[in-house]
Amino acid sequence: MDQHIQQLLWNNINIFTNRLPAPGVLMVCGNGQGRENLITLGWMTFGVAWGEPVVTVMVRKSRFSYELLQQNPQFTLNAMPRGYEDALRICGSKSGRYADKFAETGLKKNSPSIVNVPTLRDALISMECQIVNRQPMSSQGLSDLINAKWYKDGDYHECMTAVIRKFDVNLKG
Ligand SMILES: Cc1cc2nc3c(=O)[nH]c(=O)nc-3n(C[C@H](O)[C@H](O)[C@H](O)COP(=O)(O)O)c2cc1C
Repeated sequence: MDQHIQQLLWNNINIFTNRLPAPGVLMVCGNGQGRENLITLGWMTFGVAWGEPVVTVMVRKSRFSYELLQQNPQFTLNAMPRGYEDALRICGSKSGRYADKFAETGLKKNSPSIVNVPTLRDALISMECQIVNRQPMSSQGLSDLINAKWYKDGDYHECMTAVIRKFDVNLKG
């Protein structure tokens, strides 16, 4: 990504980080063949690696979204304005295995330019992301404290690092 564009991204990154860990931001993922899903995420880090702007998201293996991300290593991240708390709650509590969260929330899609899953029409900022590294967690790598606090049930996250290939800012008002 061009340095000036990257600077614009970092100048606006607080719009994402202010929403973490709650109410979260919306990830759209899909299998690349029409099955698309929404998930609320609250844990992620932003930075630079391999000379590119990157985001590392953490998705537990039990999520339907995890399955879709294994099939198709692309996603979008969308920071929503105020008024979307219900949508964030629905996408953060129901599983796309059993529910069509686009139908339930009424969220509208925009065509992406680079990846093959949509961005969200009403997002303040959307990012189009391509996964370039996956790091499954295990009890060996984690400190005992974190293991005991977060992974008693063995449902580990996978850390997925993605290059932010494009972003769109749509600040209203
Ligand atoms: C505020 C909030 C933040 C969340 N953050 C994450 C996260 O970072 N990683 C994750 O795996 N699940 C997270 N969740 C839980 C998922 O959104 C939730 O389990 C969802 O129903 C999974 O949907 P899926 O099965 O369709 O993928 C979060 C939920 C909420 C409400």
